[in-house]
Amino acid sequence: MTLWQGRFAGRPHEALLAFTASLPFDRRLAADDLAGSRAHVRGLGRAGLLDDDEAAAVVAALDAVEIELAEGSFTFAPDDEDVHTAVERRVTELAGPAGAKLHTGRSRNDQVATDLRLWCKRELAAVAGTVVDLQAVLLGRAAEVGDAYLPGYTHLQRAQPVLVAHHLLAHGWALARDVDRLLDARRRLDVCPLGAGALAGSSLPLDPDGVAADLGFAGRFENSLDAVSDRDFAAESLFALALLGVHLSRLGEEVVWWASEEVGFLRLDDAWATGSSMLPQKKNPDVAELARGKAGRLVGHVTAVLTTLKGLPLAYNRDLQETQEPLFDAVDQLRLALAALAGLLASATVRTDRMARAADGPTGAAVDLAEHLVEAGTPFREAHAVVADLVRRSLEAGEDLADLVAAHPDLGPAAAALLAPGVAVTRRTTPGGAGPAPVAVQMERFRARLADDRQRLDGPAPA
Ligand code: ARG
Repeated sequence: MTLWQGRFAGRPHEALLAFTASLPFDRRLAADDLAGSRAHVRGLGRAGLLDDDEAAAVVAALDAVEIELAEGSFTFAPDDEDVHTAVERRVTELAGPAGAKLHTGRSRNDQVATDLRLWCKRELAAVAGTVVDLQAVLLGRAAEVGDAYLPGYTHLQRAQPVLVAHHLLAHGWALARDVDRLLDARRRLDVCPLGAGALAGSSLPLDPDGVAADLGFAGRFENSLDAVSDRDFAAESLFALALLGVHLSRLGEEVVWWASEEVGFLRLDDAWATGSSMLPQKKNPDVAELARGKAGRLVGHVTAVLTTLKGLPLAYNRDLQETQEPLFDAVDQLRLALAALAGLLASATVRTDRMARAADGPTGAAVDLAEHLVEAGTPFREAHAVVADLVRRSLEAGEDLADLVAAHPDLGPAAAALLAPGVAVTRRTTPGGAGPAPVAVQMERFRARLADDRQRLDGPAPA
């Protein structure tokens, strides 16, 4: 029996239940549904709507349901439309008449909104924790490669050498913003909708403030219509998750490229690479490719939820059920991707010899030559032209740039020395820049940021 059968003369059509049921996916809200129900029962007790014996009977039944679900002995009935129905049905079977009071003053509309917010609070923090784990891998590798350097690129053309640590930490800082965004979204969704009922609150003496506090929410809803129809938190969480996915995608793309034979900056560990069913020689970066590929569906989830929400009148509409699966999938995919990328990056061999060779090309220090002239008083635009001319002559005539520089009256041997392997990167001294001195400072700041974020995650719910 559905919860609403009484209004209807006949049974719902099988095809209706098949189309509208959410149980196949919302059963993963069971723990949160039970938590919400326990708090609701305690609230009903405080309001005198359940006596002590009744409240104890319902709580015992909720405990039994929890055990049955954990053991896998919980039997779902064909008419269990969703997890809320299944739990209430079973509680009523176990607790008898007291069980029939569980839904007093409550609707599945405020119930599902509560469950989903509880779920998001926990899962966004869990994802953020996994992001910090990946950041720790990036930091570890950055510390380990010391002063190794590689070409930095713009337009995928070699531009200036940068420390490998600097490059790795660039991805790390993007992830730091993701952690911040996830926790910020979490802070905003920390509102308890219970007590809003179907849409308008209740004639019964409910205590939404007490229930919100009992469930560990920062506060209760301000407006019952908003409470049951608001899924901003789903859209916002999905955006934060999608942007995290985009960052993993960009990181994945670099791993793919770095691991190519043409570039050869990275050698993947066997445990984190895949082979080909046909080509015996292949060693493929499938983890990095899927980290890149998953971003597509994550971005799709944001679009899907925003599109679902855009035309909805107040208050609850069944369309809102469509916000659940994108959230579940985004969190699942990202947790898998983060763990796999962390494993890949922790175990890959960074081929610093090949990186240095690529960065020590003759033009990597071209701007240093121009800046050498600037230090002697030449306006930068003129200096740029002088060096550009030497670079062009070197390329056209096949002459060594260093020889041309050494022979130039305004440059000479001191300037030519800037072209020696490994010199250019040491001259990036700007705070936040790519050379050893600022990178050492940056690394300590990043380390401190990770420690702070770990504390934010382990501590009490962020304010
Ligand atoms: N499974 C439903 C959902 O996720 C629960 C709420 C059902 N409410 C209703 N009025 N039919 O939205």
